[in-house]
Amino acid sequence: MKRAYFDNNASTPLDPVVREAMLPYLADHFGNPSSGHSFGEKARYGVEEARSQVAALLNCAPDRIVLDSGGSEANNAAIVSAVMAAPAKKHIIASQVEHASVLSPLRFLVHLGYEVELLPVDEQGGLDLDRLARAIRPDTALVSLMAANNETGVLWDLAAISAICQKHGVLFHSDAIQAAGKVPLDLAAVPVDYLTVAGHKLHGPKGSAALYVRRSAPVTPLVMGAGQENGRRAGTENVAAIVGFGKACDLAAAHLAMYHRRVAALRDRIETFILAEIPAARINGQQRPRLANTLNVSFAGCSSAQLIQDLDDRGFAVSAHSACQSGDLDPSHVLLAMGVPEEYRHGTLRISLSRFTAETEVDGLLAALPSAVRRSRQGFVD
Ligand SMILES: Cc1ncc(COP(=O)(O)O)c(C=O)c1O
Repeated sequence: MKRAYFDNNASTPLDPVVREAMLPYLADHFGNPSSGHSFGEKARYGVEEARSQVAALLNCAPDRIVLDSGGSEANNAAIVSAVMAAPAKKHIIASQVEHASVLSPLRFLVHLGYEVELLPVDEQGGLDLDRLARAIRPDTALVSLMAANNETGVLWDLAAISAICQKHGVLFHSDAIQAAGKVPLDLAAVPVDYLTVAGHKLHGPKGSAALYVRRSAPVTPLVMGAGQENGRRAGTENVAAIVGFGKACDLAAAHLAMYHRRVAALRDRIETFILAEIPAARINGQQRPRLANTLNVSFAGCSSAQLIQDLDDRGFAVSAHSACQSGDLDPSHVLLAMGVPEEYRHGTLRISLSRFTAETEVDGLLAALPSAVRRSRQGFVD
């Protein structure tokens, strides 16, 4: 059975062009980028070219990019950098719908005596910017708000948020791991202090990511050791992954315009079909600007786990929410924050596409979905 993949917000398939770019660095170009000889030079060149490619996607200077092991590390590093720079400031603002890689370090900081204020969202996943402005205090060390939500795809206005943070003189971090490569990010125009992107969400390899640090923003290395990354992140570079990440950013930038048009058309086709053909379905975040590839849909009286299993049995991979969570017993904190009613919340699917999603795969999913929902409704035990 040919399988169709609709879980691109969890991870994306490696672009074959990215794979090709990586292969020499898994073979002949194995040197340590810090070495003085030609093997080191070859590896160093690969890393620096990748840094420029990541920077080009974000429209920033390459020396503002700190390469590391993944999105979670980059988010952690941004938070640690901000709080270490201002030990007297003990207040942090984020939102209730951030990814676990932001919420968990913030929870840890609460244990260390920090006050963390998690802003609520409305029923469409939108953020109240007046409320953000009112929440900022003289002792606010950081505002951390994501660019695009990984479950609903809802986009927040980075320009407006960074203007508020600038006005109040507060550092602003944005987790743009889902947004990068899907919407334009222009850091020359939008003065974010820290911004994170990860390779495996844009057809690059896992274990590759970047933290953008604005020139005026402080950095405290999370991983300490030798002087790699200009003393901002120690450890011998994962050269092949970094090269792949750079290539993936390059390709994402080249595909950006096409991405939006083609992927949005496929996503909208699924959405229109569901609303027309399946009763008691609601699209979460539909009224907000959203990522073109993401559809978060709840079916009343269904079980997410049953739907996922049923569709997987028929060759379609979808998810309920973040890949870090599983099963119906663990309801999405994002849908809870949006106040999605319980009878809908438990029957939620996140369907996320990519530029590799084929029209025929969408045809197949649409053919399979109504009966999967019917079966789940028949077998649903409250
Ligand atoms: C919005 C968001 N932030 C952070 C992460 C964590 O990235 P990584 O899995 O590379 O650590 C993810 C990935 O699931 C994500 O979707």
